[in-house]
Amino acid sequence: MKKGDGIYVLGIESSCDETSASICHNGKILSNIIATQAIHTQYGGVVPELASRAHMQNIVPVVDQAMSAAGVGLDRLDAIAFTQSPGLIGALLVGAGFAKSMALSLEVPLIEVHHMQAHVLSNLIAEPKPRFPFLCLTVSGGHTQIVHCKDALNMEILGETLDDAAGEAFDKTAKLLGLPYPGGPLIDQYAKDGDPTRFHFPEPQIEGLNFSFSGVKTSILYFLQKQLKTDPEFINKNLHDICASAQYCIVNILLHKLKKASLKTGIKTICLAGGVSANKGLRASIKKMAEKYQWDLFVPDMEYCTDNAAMIAITGYHKFLAGASSPLSVSASARAHW
Ligand code: KG4
Ligand code: ZN
Repeated sequence: MKKGDGIYVLGIESSCDETSASICHNGKILSNIIATQAIHTQYGGVVPELASRAHMQNIVPVVDQAMSAAGVGLDRLDAIAFTQSPGLIGALLVGAGFAKSMALSLEVPLIEVHHMQAHVLSNLIAEPKPRFPFLCLTVSGGHTQIVHCKDALNMEILGETLDDAAGEAFDKTAKLLGLPYPGGPLIDQYAKDGDPTRFHFPEPQIEGLNFSFSGVKTSILYFLQKQLKTDPEFINKNLHDICASAQYCIVNILLHKLKKASLKTGIKTICLAGGVSANKGLRASIKKMAEKYQWDLFVPDMEYCTDNAAMIAITGYHKFLAGASSPLSVSASARAHW
């Protein structure tokens, strides 16, 4: 065997509409190439069939770019890590099939990675790193979870959404306002100049640490229907305040539960992960909360918050160190528990 200067892991991510590849060397990310599939915008959401086809086109050039950006040849790779679940099954199968072929031909271990665990471990990419144990609020278009991370490979979900994810709540609200998909970033943008206390959308009363966002969408829908009856221009006239008020409500739901989880576990090292971490209202409020409750707060760079292969590569690296590998018969799965 080659090698000699540490562990090189190639990570591959293809669970939704981003084709991504990354090289991790001894726990440090050398490259992280992400090809975002623009084709879905015109359909108002991700079209699974189109996502699979785009992954097929992107995967070879994306892996090539990740290897050359890292200055690493095929013969240096020690393991191939890939997103095994959860996600769109056709999209996952492209990454899984490609990773299996590479592992087989290079005769290196294949390592399956759970996408949501990888989101949590995106917090281990930059310095300073959080110390274990920590809590991670993972907020994306498909998931909303509070995870108790005991060490890199030992995690427990303390709470999760019972219906829509936080990102979906943003995107569905945006849709009601006539904004294009994905509307989360637009809500954030309009909210900047709006009054978050102008309209009140109630927080659902859910026991424990679970979340629910479907009621938020419904209350905004009914509110808009009522207002539009008397003023058809209501949305245009009040867009900034509606966005600010909706964002305020979603952020409050998230942080209320996070605070509860910290008090319940006594853990004050708090991390954020997932695409919704980009939200400026969430970032500002979590920072304030961290000051108030003396949390040690970690928020990954945006490149590592949205879907990316660096988080897959770093998770693969930790699994490799622990001696984990998957049989070549492993398949992808749309849903899988940890
Ligand atoms: O993690 P992610 O990139 O993809 C997955 O869902 O796995 O998250 C995408 C979600 C979308 O719902 C998008 O609207 C939301 O993150 N998002 C935002 C912002 N940026 C992205 N939501 C609110 N404010 C933002 N600035
Ligand atoms: Zn994700």
